[in-house]
Amino acid sequence: MTAGEGFRYYVQKIEELTPVKELFTLKGKVALITGAGGGIGRSTAYALASLGADVALMDISQKKELLEHNAKVIMEKNEGVKAICVYGDVADRASVQVFVDEVVERLGTIDVVHSNAGIGGGDPELGCDISEKTWNRTIGINLTGVLNVDSVCAQVMRKHKHGGSIINTASMSGHIINKGDHGARYMPDYAACKAAVIQLTKAQACDWVLDGIRVNSISPGIVLSGLHDGWPEEPLREAAKLIPMERFASLDEIGGVVAFLATDLSSYITGTDILIDGGYTIW
Ligand SMILES: NC(=O)c1ccc[n+]([C@@H]2O[C@H](COP(=O)([O-])OP(=O)(O)OC[C@H]3O[C@@H](n4cnc5c(N)ncnc54)[C@H](O)[C@@H]3O)[C@@H](O)[C@H]2O)c1
Repeated sequence: MTAGEGFRYYVQKIEELTPVKELFTLKGKVALITGAGGGIGRSTAYALASLGADVALMDISQKKELLEHNAKVIMEKNEGVKAICVYGDVADRASVQVFVDEVVERLGTIDVVHSNAGIGGGDPELGCDISEKTWNRTIGINLTGVLNVDSVCAQVMRKHKHGGSIINTASMSGHIINKGDHGARYMPDYAACKAAVIQLTKAQACDWVLDGIRVNSISPGIVLSGLHDGWPEEPLREAAKLIPMERFASLDEIGGVVAFLATDLSSYITGTDILIDGGYTIW
């Protein structure tokens, strides 16, 4: 379809409106979730499977035991849904190609991608004098990793001519600099790559829109995902005071938003970023 051909002036009558429940489904779809051995990925894999999608859980091979456990629970709780595990490194395009090929071979295609694998950043000693090595590692996984996964999956969606929905995990740190120290001194690498993910999302949304591929991002605030395990309690308490809701997000509060963006409930949404931050960035 060329630009302009989609134009049609027609106002739906009330009898023609679709019940919301009918749109909130992923039956017959296949979803790939990267970083599915971690907290947020586990919640979104579960959410997408609960809407009927077959899911491919992806993480580094060191997460094998956890990933297999997640896949087992997902299949037990969602009758008829297939959950498979694939491994690799999102920062390495060749590795991404291998695990995406495996998903297509085992599940047939890919309709939904949650490009979510990531690491925390920052250097408590160096702050914004961060070493090139730390900088490159964070950017490699959190930004180039998103590009790699999305590009290879978009090729599948184009080849199979069915479009799809891609959801990238950015962060509220892509919008603001986290207040307070919390041990990582403003995380310049993390903040920069998450802001870049929001912009990358918009570019992809424009580039792939006529292939029927929607691309959006989510920007969580502080989520109790396991990422903060090992932090002393006091800085966490201090961080909670900075949030209007005075609490962190649960995993359920992320899964639902990604599920919404994955389904046809959000069929007119592309290139947008949804903040899920309990109001942190209001102030
Ligand atoms: N937890 C939060 O407060 C929070 C807030 C905003 C954004 N995020 C983002 O959410 C995403 C998920 O984080 P989480 O909180 O679930 O953390 P997590 O550490 O629980 O999960 C991240 C997962 O990504 C995997 N991963 C890391 N490097 C990888 C690589 N090279 N290839 C494949 N997988 C790799 C890890 O093994 C891990 O299982 C990240 O992108 C993170 O930046 C988290």
